[in-house]
Amino acid sequence: MLAAYTSLQNAQQVKEFLISKRLLSQDHFPVKEMGFMYFPIIKKVTVPNAQVLDTKFAFPQKKKEPTIQEVLKGKLTPKELTLLPQSQEVIGTILILEVPDELKSKEKSIAQAYLEVNKHLTTVVGKDKIHSGEYRTRTVKVLAGKRTKETIHTENGVKIKLHLEKVYFSARSANERLRIAKLVKPNEKVLVMFSGAGPFPLVIAKHSAAQHVWGIELNPLGHQYALENISLNHLEKKITLYEGDVHIILPKIKETFDRIAMPLPKTGELFLPIALPKVKVGGTVHLYAFLDEKDFDSERKKVQGICKAAGYNCKVPEPVKCGQFSPRVFRVCFDIQRIK
Ligand SMILES: C[S@@+](CC[C@H](N)C(=O)[O-])C[C@H]1O[C@@H](n2cnc3c(N)ncnc32)[C@H](O)[C@@H]1O
Repeated sequence: MLAAYTSLQNAQQVKEFLISKRLLSQDHFPVKEMGFMYFPIIKKVTVPNAQVLDTKFAFPQKKKEPTIQEVLKGKLTPKELTLLPQSQEVIGTILILEVPDELKSKEKSIAQAYLEVNKHLTTVVGKDKIHSGEYRTRTVKVLAGKRTKETIHTENGVKIKLHLEKVYFSARSANERLRIAKLVKPNEKVLVMFSGAGPFPLVIAKHSAAQHVWGIELNPLGHQYALENISLNHLEKKITLYEGDVHIILPKIKETFDRIAMPLPKTGELFLPIALPKVKVGGTVHLYAFLDEKDFDSERKKVQGICKAAGYNCKVPEPVKCGQFSPRVFRVCFDIQRIK
């Protein structure tokens, strides 16, 4: 078999080169022998700091995990196999299966197959009722594996414990949470108006030099999870959480903030008039919405108008896309800056 061999001293450098050029065999392990490292490669090429040769020995083979398509071959027709979505949402050890209507009757076999393919999963659930109500909660049904709906999700280096039906959570907002955390400047005071199980406060507290982060959450069970998550991540000194309606809680908080995040996409703008008085001049409000691309500009102008009507001069830039629902519909964030 083809191999690039080098001294142990150069091994790391050679390995990185082979990976970057996609030359390293994915099916075999490298071999260390007599002070040399032999890397299995897939093409005869020149490799800096290494000799390339055809070895007489065979490299140990890696055990190949089957793909979801391989496991489902025979259970699904070739046409049905093409209907399987490219990716599924995983929260902690629970996969939330989403399949098109044509595959609904085979949901349980598909769920079982995902368990076989992903050894870290304990449970596969199917979507039942979509996020709704004031708490934005949903229902799911267990399709395969352990009958649990509670899990610990790891995201951006923080642990988030939650029950899929008792509190809102979307793993798909992880990048957006990190984006906000990276915008926070040292010593900022940050408020998250709808904190849920705490993902925004946790990620901001972990990845910024904020002076302090506050959160307000209406759902008592969500708030309980958030409190538990603060302890789980040892962030008690950086985060303070309140349970209740922001209409009632926020006016009672004496602080003003450098930054306020409002992750409540459908009705968030209704809360702008109570958020704006609490953000410092020069500070930022992150307002979320679900929008069709064609409505970005009209919504931007509408938000500008809401700020003006509330008595605040604000700069409302183009929205930042932070999630996609269909070819033209996005989850967006307006990073509103209070000027006066
Ligand atoms: C879309 S979820 C976001 C939760 C969390 N920030 C996250 O990203 O996972 C919105 C949250 O706002 C909470 N909520 C709705 N109305 C509220 C209000 N008037 N005051 C405080 N929280 C509220 C809901 O209970 C829900 O947990």
